[in-house]
Amino acid sequence: MKALVLSGGSGTRLRPITHTSAKQLVPVGNKPILFYGLEAIADAGITEVGIVVGDTAAEVQHAVGDGSKFGLRVTYIRQEAPLGLAHGVLIARDFLEDDDFLLFLGDNFIVGGVAGIVAGFRSDPCDARLLLTKVPDPTRFGVAELGPDGRIVRLEEKPRRPKSDLALVGAYLFGPAIHRAVRAISPSARGELEITDAIQWLLDEGLDVRSTTITGYWKDTGDVDDMLEANRTVLEDLEHGVHGEVDADTEILGRVRIAPGAIVKGSRIVGPAIIGPDARIVGSYVGPFTSIAEGVHVEDSEIEYSIVLADSSIRGVRRIEASLIGRTVEVTPAPRTRAAHRFVLGDYSKVRIS
Ligand code: G1P
Repeated sequence: MKALVLSGGSGTRLRPITHTSAKQLVPVGNKPILFYGLEAIADAGITEVGIVVGDTAAEVQHAVGDGSKFGLRVTYIRQEAPLGLAHGVLIARDFLEDDDFLLFLGDNFIVGGVAGIVAGFRSDPCDARLLLTKVPDPTRFGVAELGPDGRIVRLEEKPRRPKSDLALVGAYLFGPAIHRAVRAISPSARGELEITDAIQWLLDEGLDVRSTTITGYWKDTGDVDDMLEANRTVLEDLEHGVHGEVDADTEILGRVRIAPGAIVKGSRIVGPAIIGPDARIVGSYVGPFTSIAEGVHVEDSEIEYSIVLADSSIRGVRRIEASLIGRTVEVTPAPRTRAAHRFVLGDYSKVRIS
């Protein structure tokens, strides 16, 4: 059994963060989303992993390396353009051979991992096993229509009028028949070879397609609110551990993880919250569900329910909430006398001023 992880795609909904970095590498709980998937794959006992990469190949390869830190052997497969999930399978034909495989989307997050469903597939294989989950907005997903016996009747990609609220989760198990399917289908309206259409082809051919419905799933990197929600979930299970330097004027409440090299002075940290290596928190409040990455400097500020990426600095700002702050960003208050706001904002930025 192999795994194929799709980590191309451009992440337009997370702009401007994804202008400069791969969406699969945006961290939740100070760890790139993709790493949770790779750990889940290793946990399921799979070691041979192909990662399909696109424009952000260099960054993904730099972060994941040869996979040995996850106990995996990683082969990179270059996708020249984001031509769809089924196209990812198509170009991975030589890597996959005729083995059964787990197809895993690098921007998906499955609470509790995939070990159970992989074990189930190993002992009772079929042509495809899909994971389904109830979602509030099925129009954003592939949607499954089930018959009265609970078997899948039809699949539709991002339907305008969904036949159910059961979305296709970004983890699929396939036998070798999928290779015929991805060769048989044509691009969809959005110009991509859809894995949903390939699975529909399997159904039309009368092949054995089954499903398992799960709970505890996010398509994390859909947008900023999803990311913050995923971050909250990850931090719910955070283990307390203070390894950095914390002075006597600091108050730490609840489960807080402070990495080695971090310095916290005269501050109040209310968990669950995580503070990365070499971060400095001075005279500040860091509230629940906040992830502060490595090298971040927070001084004389208040922040909660937010994600701050590496090497940014926040000074003299009260208060920041529900925010996703990129790498090497500076946030400071404008002098009070200034009559107008002054901005340098990237394309597609969203700014709210009160
Ligand atoms: C893709 C699939 C969709 C599935 C979703 C899960 O959507 O096409 O069927 O429900 O992943 O994340 P995309 O990420 O291409 O919008």
